Amino acid sequence: STASAPTGAAASAADIRRGLAGVVVDTTEISTVIEETNSLTYRGYPVQDLAARCSFEEVAHLLWHGELPTGAQLTEFRAQERALRPLERTTAELLARVPETCHPMDVLRTAVSFFGAEDPTEGDDSPEANRAKSLRLLAKLPVVVAADQRRRRGLEPIAPDASLGYAENFFHMCFGTVPEPEIVRCFEISLILYAEHSFNASTFTARVVTSTLSDLYSAVTAAIGALKGPLHGGANEAVMHMLEEIGDPQRAADWLEEALAAKRKIMGFGHRVYKHGDSRVPIMQEATERLVARSGDPETTRLATLHTALRHAMAARKGIHPNLDYPAGLAYHLMGFDIPAFTPIFVMSRITGWTAHITEQLDHNALIRPLASYTGVRQRAVPAAAS
Ligand code: ACO
Repeated sequence: STASAPTGAAASAADIRRGLAGVVVDTTEISTVIEETNSLTYRGYPVQDLAARCSFEEVAHLLWHGELPTGAQLTEFRAQERALRPLERTTAELLARVPETCHPMDVLRTAVSFFGAEDPTEGDDSPEANRAKSLRLLAKLPVVVAADQRRRRGLEPIAPDASLGYAENFFHMCFGTVPEPEIVRCFEISLILYAEHSFNASTFTARVVTSTLSDLYSAVTAAIGALKGPLHGGANEAVMHMLEEIGDPQRAADWLEEALAAKRKIMGFGHRVYKHGDSRVPIMQEATERLVARSGDPETTRLATLHTALRHAMAARKGIHPNLDYPAGLAYHLMGFDIPAFTPIFVMSRITGWTAHITEQLDHNALIRPLASYTGVRQRAVPAAAS
């Protein structure tokens, strides 16, 4: 096969894997999808069991250290995360100057870049230093997301509360109150489900950057850029925009016909890995239905009816199933978050998976550098007049 030629320049069409679809590029011990059961596992534990029994902090510990924490380890982990939450005054001042016309993902990307510039251990890429940086990011990202949502609402930021857990504290910093435990739990479930998904586009981006022996903050900054796009994490926001565009549940099927005829991608549907349904969806769908049931508000009922109608229409018309972003987008709206905060919330969770992969990449690094089949103009002479 010509693909094994050192440059790949003349690979045959059959050797090209566009989008790296189906290509296995490395090993990982962090997560996998077990095909027989269609279940995603983190370090061997099915994610639905983790969502049923664990806190997000326990799952973060599991992803980073390979094991669920003991009681003492969890206490220490929580204390460290809570102590690291407050932003430096300089970061807060910088972020207050970022134009509100930009997307909150741009604010987050800028924040991570600045966290790197502020970190005196920048340049130390030992596993211990990277673990400390990962925890620092986990602790500080929610503070940035919450402050940015408040700024866009014309409100002053609320300082983190070290007496509150990761999920509770985020509500506190966004709204000044913590909702009932059932709502916090639905949010925490979404964080657990979003935490890790093997070599997805943003994680792979982080691994590509790490593979050049660049630093953790650079890798995370790049990963945020990759997650922002609507074919990846940006889909949870796009789902809500789409539901707003459709409006009337009665219109779902007709809207879908028009959208498919216009060759639009239906946001929150389809997946590169799951072709028979995303294993995370039933858990998130159930959590979202609990939010709908406790609301009783006619507007919520309309949205939930529309959400179901579109899912059925898509299954009947294309046989394509929802991905996690479909129920999560609606859930975040029902929890009161503004749409542009949805993908930043995804970052607050996926930072755990990204940084676990950065550590793993460094553990057995190989520069990631694929080849391309050249289809441009053949070699030719520069005209004499060109200089
Ligand atoms: N809407 C309409 N058609 C779709 C969709 C969709 N959401 N998803 C897949 N298809 C169609 C494709 O057009 C293609 O049809 P064709 O064979 O007639 O060309 C067929 O189904 C197979 O799809 P692929 O493009 O091969 O799927 P791929 O693995 O490349 O894409 C992706 C996966 C990008 C997620 C795609 O399903 C999509 O665009 N979905 C919408 C965006 C989205 O929800 N992204 C979130 C992903 S999950 C996450 O990041 C947490």
